Amino acid sequence: MKRDPVGGPATICPAKQGYPRNCWYVAAFSAEVGRTLLRRTLLGEPVVMYRTERGDPIALVDRCPHRALPLSQGRLEGDAVRCMYHGMKFGADGVCLEVPSLPTAPKGLAVRTFPLVEQWKWIWIWMGDPAQADPALIPDSHTMGLNRPGFTAATRFMCEMQANYQLLHENLLDTTHVTYLHPNGFDGGNAVSASFKVDYFDNSVRLTREIQEDSSPFVNRFFGTTGVAYHRLLITETFPPNLNVISNVVTDRSDPSRTKMSVSPFPVTPGGPGHCYQFAATSMNFPCDVEAENAAFWKLFCQDRDVLEKIQKVFDEQGPDLPEYSVRADQAALWCRRKIFEMVNAEEKP
Ligand SMILES: [Fe+2]
Repeated sequence: MKRDPVGGPATICPAKQGYPRNCWYVAAFSAEVGRTLLRRTLLGEPVVMYRTERGDPIALVDRCPHRALPLSQGRLEGDAVRCMYHGMKFGADGVCLEVPSLPTAPKGLAVRTFPLVEQWKWIWIWMGDPAQADPALIPDSHTMGLNRPGFTAATRFMCEMQANYQLLHENLLDTTHVTYLHPNGFDGGNAVSASFKVDYFDNSVRLTREIQEDSSPFVNRFFGTTGVAYHRLLITETFPPNLNVISNVVTDRSDPSRTKMSVSPFPVTPGGPGHCYQFAATSMNFPCDVEAENAAFWKLFCQDRDVLEKIQKVFDEQGPDLPEYSVRADQAALWCRRKIFEMVNAEEKP
């Protein structure tokens, strides 16, 4: 059997990874959901989201139980959705309120609803067993860099890609890629050979790279370090299956008391077997015009998206059993691969 560098089997295809269902995933930024019908495919299921007149977010299966037209093709009537094929109307609780061709709506006719929790500027969805949908399982705000004293948090953008979400976790967990894929972007050339350590926890893995010199104009502009000799810690912590947090700690080498830190939470949500979403946000303890920097960040995120979509295509075209040669830098990513695999298997056991 093939072995990975940390001793486990290397037979899980990263482009075919399954997804645990009993878990909160970000379905949308709060600002994306309003009084129009938003369709999104999540964990392979079509979902329609909107807000009630009071402002509560709602998620229903986006399919009329009558003849399968997406409800998102219909219209909102108060807090209900009317399918615009034969006019059936469903309330925010999914229950059918009206079948225009019948005097009363049939008892028991309903579309499935999904539990949602709105926290900070995200809407989290639970698509597994609703009885297990405990909001306490949502990653805590401090972990995500939110609500920290002295930090300002802001959303960036949603990046959707035609790639399995495992590929995205592995991209974020192997930061040697920043040297080659994002030259003069997230790295000035030294990340690939920087010393690193991997810490394993029950529910997360943390990769810390220590970059002694960094001359990336992008990094310097963001942290305001142009002309300053500094030391940079680039840290990815991944909480399978739904969250990555990337932190940067930049310290002035001539004055170690001068430190700047950014904490960027990236919830990741599977759309389907070869499709995912990344909901990028950031939080930092120094003044920064996030809005103004977004266009530059978007370009760098698209470099990742384009590579991951190409990798997905290779696996789709050439099969899931392609040989992969893993190296030491892959340790954290391989841990995440196995962890998610185990989570999926645990749910599949009778
Ligand atoms: Fe990247």
